[in-house]
Amino acid sequence: MAGEPVNVNEFQELARQALPKMYYDYYTGGAEDQHTLKENVEAFCRIIIRPRILVDVSRIDMSTTILGHKTSAPIMVAPTAMHKLAHPEGEVATARGAAACDVIMGLSYMSTCTVEEVASSCNAVRFFQIYVYKRRDITALMVHRAEKNGFRAIILTADTPRLGRREADIKNKMVAPQLKNFEGLISTEYVSDKGSNIEAFAAGAFDASFCWKDIAWLKSITKLPILIKGVLTSEDAIKAIEAGFAGIIVSNHGARQLDYAPATISVLEEVVLAVQGKVPVFFDGGVRRGTDIFKALALGAKAVLIGRSVVYGLAAKGERGVKQVIQMLKNELELTMALSGCCTVYDITRSHVKTEKEMLH
Ligand code: FNR
Repeated sequence: MAGEPVNVNEFQELARQALPKMYYDYYTGGAEDQHTLKENVEAFCRIIIRPRILVDVSRIDMSTTILGHKTSAPIMVAPTAMHKLAHPEGEVATARGAAACDVIMGLSYMSTCTVEEVASSCNAVRFFQIYVYKRRDITALMVHRAEKNGFRAIILTADTPRLGRREADIKNKMVAPQLKNFEGLISTEYVSDKGSNIEAFAAGAFDASFCWKDIAWLKSITKLPILIKGVLTSEDAIKAIEAGFAGIIVSNHGARQLDYAPATISVLEEVVLAVQGKVPVFFDGGVRRGTDIFKALALGAKAVLIGRSVVYGLAAKGERGVKQVIQMLKNELELTMALSGCCTVYDITRSHVKTEKEMLH
């Protein structure tokens, strides 16, 4: 590619050139037929923006508030695993990129830098994502370490009782490193030639029995607000509110868990309507453009999380690449708002988009 990348897809191409095939496949891949993976992106194409003209858009303000934290834009870094496979500086570089753009950093439970390293290396507002291990003591310890190190919320990822079947990882016999957070607690480094080592690790470590009644335990070990990630239906949205979550993240895990789960943008509104404004609803899956963010906000999301886009920036150029990707999405959102007649994120309403179903009528 000649010259600087001008959009996220071009960053993906740079990431492909920078990474060994095993890791590139790990970052890009989805589950099984990857139907949902394609849909996550394509479903955005079926939503049309309804712009308003002759609005004074000489000043655009994208800032918003997330769980009481002011942020420059309705964008957060999604928790994604093992950033050192993308770049030697790992999550520290990602967090610094997020801090430079004044957006919230979501740190994965499966990070390659420790909670302490990330906390001491940047001043971004940080949320910590967790899985629940069979060894609950380890999960509790991680939550306490996050709390002690100034993380401001916990994200419970609830769509992963087992790992989805990611066939590229099986073929590549994907190898995971020992994660530093868990050194001396649990071995994450499986080296077998039978298939995905990550899948083998998850099968042994993740607690598939964890369910709604166990949320009381999670709430008992932390004072931090807890978001639930992985909600795709109104039924679960209502349960999440009853369970006392501080917010809901509509997510299908970047299409890496259940194939033929819906594209997230196609179920966002169902969840928003069920929640009735009781807690904020966040969104992730397939965000590659500022117009995608605009559409998610119009359908009721408070903010979006970006997963692969950030990883592509990291793989291509480290901290600078993360910064460029986030800035690129912010610039695109700002332009979309200006061209749609919205000066602030609060001006973006349901009437600014038309879904495929509505176009048929
Ligand atoms: C993820 N995701 C994820 N989610 C989570 O809660 N904990 C994790 O450790 C990971 N790890 C992870 C690794 C990789 C390589 C990817 C691509 C994704 C899911 C992530 O938080 C988010 O839901 C999706 O990435 C959003 O979709 P996009 O933006 O990647 O299309």
